[in-house]
Amino acid sequence: MSPGRLTPSPKPSFFLFAIVALLFCQSSAAANSAPSSNQLFNDSWLFHSGEHSSARFPETDDSSWRKLRLPHDAAIEGPFSSKNESRSGSLPSSGVFWYRKHFALPLTDREQNVTLCFEGAMSNSRVWINGHFLGERPNGYIGFEYDVTRYIRFGENANNVIAVRLEQEDLSSRWYPGAGLYRDVRLKVRSPIHLPSDGIYITTPVVSDQWSEVDVRAEVANTTSSPAQVTVEHRVFGPDGRIVGQSSIQAKVNTSDKLQTSANLSIANPLRWEPDAPHLYRLETRVRRDGKVVDVGETTFGIRTIEFSASDGFLLNGVRTQIKGVCLHHDLGPLGAAINRSALERRLEILKEMGTNAVRTSHNPPSPQLLDLCDEMGLLVQVEAFDAWEQAKVENSYSKHFPDWYEQDLRAMIRRDRNHPSVFMWSIGNEILEQTDPQKGPLIAKTLNDICHEEDPTRPTTACFNYYPDPVVNGLAAEVDVVGLNYHPASYQDLLERHPDWIVYGSETASTVSSRGVYHLPIEKYDSHPSHQITSYDIIGPAWAYPPDIEFHFQETNPRVIGEFIWTGFDYIGEPTPFAWDEHKSGGAWPSRSSYFGAIDLCGFPKDRYYLYKSQWNSQPLVHLLPHWNWDASKGETIPVYAFSNCEEVELIANGKSLGRRKVGVDTTPIPVNFYNSDLEVFESKYRLRWDVPYVPGAVKAIGYSDGEIVSEDSIKTAGPAHSLELQLEDGRIHNDGYDLAFVQVHVVDKDGNLCPLADNAVEFEVFGPGEIAAVGNGDPATAEPFTASERKTFNGLCLAIIRGDVGQSGVIQVRAKSIGLESDLVEIQLAPRLAPVDGMTYRSDN
Ligand code: GAL
Repeated sequence: MSPGRLTPSPKPSFFLFAIVALLFCQSSAAANSAPSSNQLFNDSWLFHSGEHSSARFPETDDSSWRKLRLPHDAAIEGPFSSKNESRSGSLPSSGVFWYRKHFALPLTDREQNVTLCFEGAMSNSRVWINGHFLGERPNGYIGFEYDVTRYIRFGENANNVIAVRLEQEDLSSRWYPGAGLYRDVRLKVRSPIHLPSDGIYITTPVVSDQWSEVDVRAEVANTTSSPAQVTVEHRVFGPDGRIVGQSSIQAKVNTSDKLQTSANLSIANPLRWEPDAPHLYRLETRVRRDGKVVDVGETTFGIRTIEFSASDGFLLNGVRTQIKGVCLHHDLGPLGAAINRSALERRLEILKEMGTNAVRTSHNPPSPQLLDLCDEMGLLVQVEAFDAWEQAKVENSYSKHFPDWYEQDLRAMIRRDRNHPSVFMWSIGNEILEQTDPQKGPLIAKTLNDICHEEDPTRPTTACFNYYPDPVVNGLAAEVDVVGLNYHPASYQDLLERHPDWIVYGSETASTVSSRGVYHLPIEKYDSHPSHQITSYDIIGPAWAYPPDIEFHFQETNPRVIGEFIWTGFDYIGEPTPFAWDEHKSGGAWPSRSSYFGAIDLCGFPKDRYYLYKSQWNSQPLVHLLPHWNWDASKGETIPVYAFSNCEEVELIANGKSLGRRKVGVDTTPIPVNFYNSDLEVFESKYRLRWDVPYVPGAVKAIGYSDGEIVSEDSIKTAGPAHSLELQLEDGRIHNDGYDLAFVQVHVVDKDGNLCPLADNAVEFEVFGPGEIAAVGNGDPATAEPFTASERKTFNGLCLAIIRGDVGQSGVIQVRAKSIGLESDLVEIQLAPRLAPVDGMTYRSDN
């Protein structure tokens, strides 16, 4: 354990030599004239599901294989089946999957270095090119690459064949892993003297309002047979695109070697990266040989300070910042695990709106897109490496490979991600079972911790512990810089008293479960429910869980705790707790196949819990009312009405009559709980207000007051019979790169436009023009309806269609939704070219 403030990276003393010239100038960024290319290599792959004895041989006939574009999730089309493990999503993600790709490179590239890069392949990949075996990589979440130069046949007519075999065993994941080549593949064609992947490391050892020191370590690779004298030039572009610093270094790179160069730049009046203003800088690195530019690389970075101290908590740019975080699994709901930047961006926007300032990539390395977006949107990220070490949680997990691969995988993760300003902690493990092993636990923790510090001394390490107090007592927790407790909020005080110098946070909190729009009466604690839905009164969770209210309470009463990551931001596929997923193979949870843990459902529709967090994490005035007001069956009964609010007072008005005001943070609501090590059965929550309202159809309205003024309102109304579909297009304009997506919400409404909160109408979608349906969904965690379809039932009034534009086409995509007996609706999406590449890379066209 190394408590206290974290120091920036030490100055490296081992670099060969560096002549640094520091200049400031005001010119704008020059056009990039990169001679190298780093192209997306996602098009025209061929796919075969199942084993194939000759797929690795180039001459194999693959004419009947399915042609597709990556990223591709090989399991998301389903079908859902009770025979598949519900824990990993009841989808066919186990098995063998093959991909092949034919391609040609021009003769003019024959002196170049060619590298094939996978940003992740699920899982146990084995790769061949032109029949030559390149290597294997068990971990499905780690990026890896192969230098394929010597195997390539150059020439427009030469046929190069890549073959990838993936294999996923049953019982290999605790959640839905996805399957296939679910992240981007790239082909880098670079000069033999070039900047190798992940070879640039930028730190900012000194940051003040007046200036910032920027250290750049840049590797240069020489794959030629003679030493090379090179010049490495760095230019830093500020957030406004102007050059704010530059340097030039000369170095000699030996044959077949990599040289690490070092440069030190200064930036005047730096603009900090912070959540509300995530200013980003861009480093352009050019390698010259004999005056000629042979390679150019771009690296985005930010200038910010992070400090962790037992007394002051977590300070971002010197300001105490409480972590209001969410844990996220990597799937994107109906789209599955196939990475998609626009779907991810939508998710992060919804989370920011809730007041989230941090994401934990539970329990694996994320996609590069996640970190790019968090940099751009001002979200902090805890990047997590492992869910298990040597002791497996599921029979066929990565644990089998951990002893052979942990070092390579951990180093690869950190090298790829260490320039992102959003990344503020490295997690070496989640609930590892070695927590109870006083020998192995601390030993492995130390080894992993040392690797993290070696690769990146600027960020603290952490691990997330659930067996309190074992890892605290046996020395394991002392090996990491920041101690995460999963659940056990009632133990914060004990932990802090035992270790007053430790930095502690709730690495996983709440684990409350619910189905959007479902309310069971009376409000009572249950373990699971015969309907396979869970009430949104937000009081249900597994034995280790706590309602958000209790977590708020313990955060508040232990101000030294630096925040929490809730389990989870979004629902995810798999782990349908509280239904019996552990009866794997026997379909114990069927048809429950996705989680109930999210504050937001699988389609991005907020649940009530979203507003409970929003009321605590966001200062904009808010009142949110629940449940709905369609209780025909219960006429005359009394309905508990909750309000979540951050106003000073809330008044409830039912059908025009005031039911009185309640004071937020003062008046309490009893909520039933059952949590570890306590006799407490009811928790008096000051985080929600309750009125018991006799049910009469009509309207219930909540008015939020602060300083005597009305600052927010919410109402629930009795909806009449379903009358029409109403489409809401979240963004009416998408790009025609084939990746950008439009999200079309379907609301079933009555004749006055009120949402019918119980509607489950079957909706059929039609798409006209240059687009197609990428997926559909409705947020129901217990249905076997496929995500890849053109129809969907609404779940409590809502469903979603996700639309993709045709590559290279422009024009209007019309989406019509119809349902028997209801008026249909239509929206128009504009499809247009993207003017600049998304990630600032220089592309050759994607073949
Ligand atoms: C935790 C675990 C998570 C998830 C969660 C559900 O113990 O770390 O991955 O399983 O429980 O409550």
